[in-house]
Amino acid sequence: MAEERDLLVVGGGKMGAALVDGLLSSGWARPDQVTVTEIAAGRRADLNAPAGLAGRYPGLRLLDGRLPAAHNAILAVKPGDAQGVCRRLGEAGVGRLLSIAAGVPLRDLESWCPGGCAVVRAMPNMAALVRTSATAVSAGVSAGPPDIEWATGIMRSVGTVVEVPERLLDAVTGLSGSGPAYVFLVAEAMIEAGVLSGLPRPVASELVIHTLLGSARLLSETGESAEALRAAVTSPAGTTAAGLRQLEAHGARSALIEAITAAVQRSRELGSSVRELGSSATGPSPAG
Ligand SMILES: NC(=O)c1ccc[n+]([C@@H]2O[C@H](COP(=O)([O-])OP(=O)(O)OC[C@H]3O[C@@H](n4cnc5c(N)ncnc54)[C@H](OP(=O)(O)O)[C@@H]3O)[C@@H](O)[C@H]2O)c1
Repeated sequence: MAEERDLLVVGGGKMGAALVDGLLSSGWARPDQVTVTEIAAGRRADLNAPAGLAGRYPGLRLLDGRLPAAHNAILAVKPGDAQGVCRRLGEAGVGRLLSIAAGVPLRDLESWCPGGCAVVRAMPNMAALVRTSATAVSAGVSAGPPDIEWATGIMRSVGTVVEVPERLLDAVTGLSGSGPAYVFLVAEAMIEAGVLSGLPRPVASELVIHTLLGSARLLSETGESAEALRAAVTSPAGTTAAGLRQLEAHGARSALIEAITAAVQRSRELGSSVRELGSSATGPSPAG
């Protein structure tokens, strides 16, 4: 009987490594329960370095792309490599899979995986690297409540998790998958404005970073809506009101809505091309 926390991670790239880091540092699993298999020699060398995963967590097993016997696995390779890996999971005896490969649908994963394999798809975002991802998960037909709890527990080690039907994952991709990029663009513009107004760049940068962090914490911790918090900081005829008027006049709200709906649409298109091209798929993946 396989141990619940024994885990094979296929792909030790940015996301695979971030997940393993989250799982081990939170105590979800012990290093000797986790095997990472990574095909790229250069990347394996990084993972083996003193500051890499294997260096920081003695006992963690690092393989060169081989698939050892395992019941639980995470698929953390690029979408174009997903089919090839899934088709080999039967040999390893995998019975439960969490896939983070963007745009690869459950139907395809289930058809490539061994019969009856419980599959859960997750859409994390880049903030998994600092354990603050906003992640959505969707369960396949063979995944029951214990499988969903298992997958959710894994993703919770790198942030917050919601469960949605798979048809909503393109919306998740455009909103929270691509979301960090929109916030970075806002940060860039705010820093430039600070510099234009006379602040040294490092000062403007520090003030903007902490303004974003503080605003996110207010949204997360006070339970107030974004609208109520914005009203609370906007005094009549004040500075914030003058600034907000310009944002509205330049269509900032509408631009964000258009940006996110365009990203959702692009995720749908890329999802179709991943399906059509299968293992030969190259180019951008959803949320990339
Ligand atoms: N990065 C994000 O913000 C983000 C957000 C949401 C979802 N995702 C999804 O997460 C997945 C991983 O993304 P990533 O950014 O971590 O990509 P990545 O850094 O390219 O990592 C994937 C790693 O897996 C290796 N690999 C390929 N085939 C393999 C095989 N058969 N066995 C073992 N290892 C293999 C790759 O080697 P090669 O380089 O030699 O191919 C690469 O080192 C992608 O499917 C992506 O869509 C990423």
